[in-house]
Amino acid sequence: MERELPDGLSADRLPAHVAIIMDGNGRWAKKRVLNRVKGHEKGAGAVRTVVESCTKFGIPYLTLYAFSTENWQRPKKEVDALMGLLTRFLRNERKQLQKNGVRLTAIGELHRLPEEVRRELDLAMAETKDNTRLTLCLALSYGSRSELVEMVQRISGEVKVGHIEAADVDEKMVSQFLFTRDFPDPDLVIRTSGEMRLSNFLLWQCAYSEIFFTETLWPDFGESEFASILKDFQERERRFGKVLQP
Ligand code: FPP
Repeated sequence: MERELPDGLSADRLPAHVAIIMDGNGRWAKKRVLNRVKGHEKGAGAVRTVVESCTKFGIPYLTLYAFSTENWQRPKKEVDALMGLLTRFLRNERKQLQKNGVRLTAIGELHRLPEEVRRELDLAMAETKDNTRLTLCLALSYGSRSELVEMVQRISGEVKVGHIEAADVDEKMVSQFLFTRDFPDPDLVIRTSGEMRLSNFLLWQCAYSEIFFTETLWPDFGESEFASILKDFQERERRFGKVLQP
């Protein structure tokens, strides 16, 4: 399928992996004197838009922070509503994802998710597993620190039984023991709603990512703003800690 790029965006130097911290659903709803859940529902629409934009622009990896390990501490009513929303999203979007060549994957403590979310997730992942246009990764019950702790436990277990020498542990091996082992590191991280922090999201993987903060609340995030962030990204000089040759 041909890619469709907005004016001013060049096909080379597009990020291979965009990761988004979707924040501000609650504030979006509060501003309209609505229940917070309405903000999440509207936020699901913005998810649809950004997934479509990635397929149009030819960005091969998109990771969305949809539910953090800390989010379990929200009121039960809100957690239940989010899980219900996720279930419906996965059920309703499966055909469209398949049609658009999107492979769905997920990272996080997936065993903590309610059974019906896991069931829809498994169905969507199985149906879309051979697609190659875009890999959409949902971070669900995800926390970077617990991912790192698990990595240390697993590597030290391998060292203990003699499968690995401690001296052989290097950055590549660490990456291979994370949920994200099959994905490139994010080139670009976007956080909406004006908050300027990473909130336990892909801390190892974002070591050299370009980070963009926007005041826009997630439900209002759309294709034109996404395109303008991508343009800005293309103008940034990424040095990875080195000095570029004159
Ligand atoms: C942060 O906003 C958002 C979340 C905790 C949930 C994100 C969920 C969605 C965007 C919708 C469903 C997702 C998919 C993949 C269909 P917040 O509630 O913390 O907002 P606030 O900071 O303004 O209160």
